[in-house]
Amino acid sequence: MANIDTRPGRVRPAPENFLTDEQIAAVKDGRRDFLRRAFVTASAAMAAPAVARAAGEGDPAILNLPPWSTSLGQPVAANPYGMPSKFERGLQRRESPGLTRVGGSSVAFTPLQGLFGIITPSGLHFERHHQGWHDVDPSKHRLMINGLVKTNAVFTMDDIMRLPSVSRIHFIECGANTGMEWGNVAVPTVQYSHGMISCSEFTGVPLKEILDMCGADYKKGRFVLAEGADGSSMTRTIPMELIESGEVLVAYGMNGEMLRPENGYPLRLVVPGVQGVSWVKWLRRIEVGDKPWATKDEAVHYVDLMPDGLHRQYTSIQECKSVITTPSGGQLLLDKGFYNISGMAWSGRGKVTRVDVSTDGGINWRQARLETPVLSKAVTRFNIDWVWDGKPAILQSRAVDETGYVQPSYGQLRKVRGTKSIYHNNAIQSWKVVESGEVSNVQVL
Ligand code: MTE
Repeated sequence: MANIDTRPGRVRPAPENFLTDEQIAAVKDGRRDFLRRAFVTASAAMAAPAVARAAGEGDPAILNLPPWSTSLGQPVAANPYGMPSKFERGLQRRESPGLTRVGGSSVAFTPLQGLFGIITPSGLHFERHHQGWHDVDPSKHRLMINGLVKTNAVFTMDDIMRLPSVSRIHFIECGANTGMEWGNVAVPTVQYSHGMISCSEFTGVPLKEILDMCGADYKKGRFVLAEGADGSSMTRTIPMELIESGEVLVAYGMNGEMLRPENGYPLRLVVPGVQGVSWVKWLRRIEVGDKPWATKDEAVHYVDLMPDGLHRQYTSIQECKSVITTPSGGQLLLDKGFYNISGMAWSGRGKVTRVDVSTDGGINWRQARLETPVLSKAVTRFNIDWVWDGKPAILQSRAVDETGYVQPSYGQLRKVRGTKSIYHNNAIQSWKVVESGEVSNVQVL
């Protein structure tokens, strides 16, 4: 921390948090002093002493005992299932206004700007449904195995949950994450630009164990088809090598409890490193076959439109990518001084080995700290110190994975992929900071 300006820099942590509409309007009007006072009250612990001394008066938040210090609190189990503080209610998954016409076939994005560490709280896990979600009765749910197997079988949830289980932390990213940004800047915040990624601990049974029990023909049966029980007929081909690696799970647990209904309760496929669409929810059937099925969700959707007009199929692995989550678009730096730049990096091919951060639009780069744990095919948290001098800046992060692959710039990616695609945009994200402290989404080639 040598050379670091010790004055606290202060960031409005998430667009929806802490500040009232009136306070945000005050920032826009340029009434920064008013805002500074308001912010001190809202986050006294961070900045009160210095400001209170400067004002020559005591801080009421420390001089007067608040009700929570002088009265009896709520009893245990007042909330039998705990919920976040009411002061955090702005942190929610949200639909991007105007993105889709009906909520049953839409996305609710994870508020990455307000999260810490690597695990996504289950209630904030992004949602992507093709035909809505149901709270499926587990006693009526079945998993059928058929195709190139010796014995066709039907499993109840009890049958599956009595098998030996494993728990593993992995990210799931929709192939369409950042898909709106192929041509140009389209959305203001990291929630909408990158919020189709979440990272959880999943518990379940390796699919290989279940296929072994059914006597799968691994010689001829080089593919499986996974099918969901919802009305969208979600069906995806998964190459058998992935299943043979033992990584693909038939999962019922997420973050220590059963999956949430929105995320496939009671059973979903977990396919580490592969785009979200293959993580079939409400999983009801696995068929072993000798060639890919080319179903609608792999022939028409989730294909990459290339510059020559042809579509590229079965590019399922999510390549190495990263994004700075704070400071990020829609946030506001309230003062010059020290900031902890924080973000997430991930790779569908293994571990992240390095993240570099630039504050001048890619001219100079510094190596960020990777926080532990650094896990394969999981989100890795990175942090780096920064002292903002109040001048315009462009913040970027660039991740490298264990294969040596380096996250590309928009210029590099567009040279190969063009600008008309939807899927698999892993370009370097840029956030511009202007003198007023406002942070916005920009693209740097
Ligand atoms: N499985 C079924 N049965 N139905 C669906 O609509 N959506 C897919 C996949 N599995 C989907 C599904 C897509 S496109 C993605 S990105 C992930 O689920 C999203 O998982 P989540 O909603 O748990 O985030």
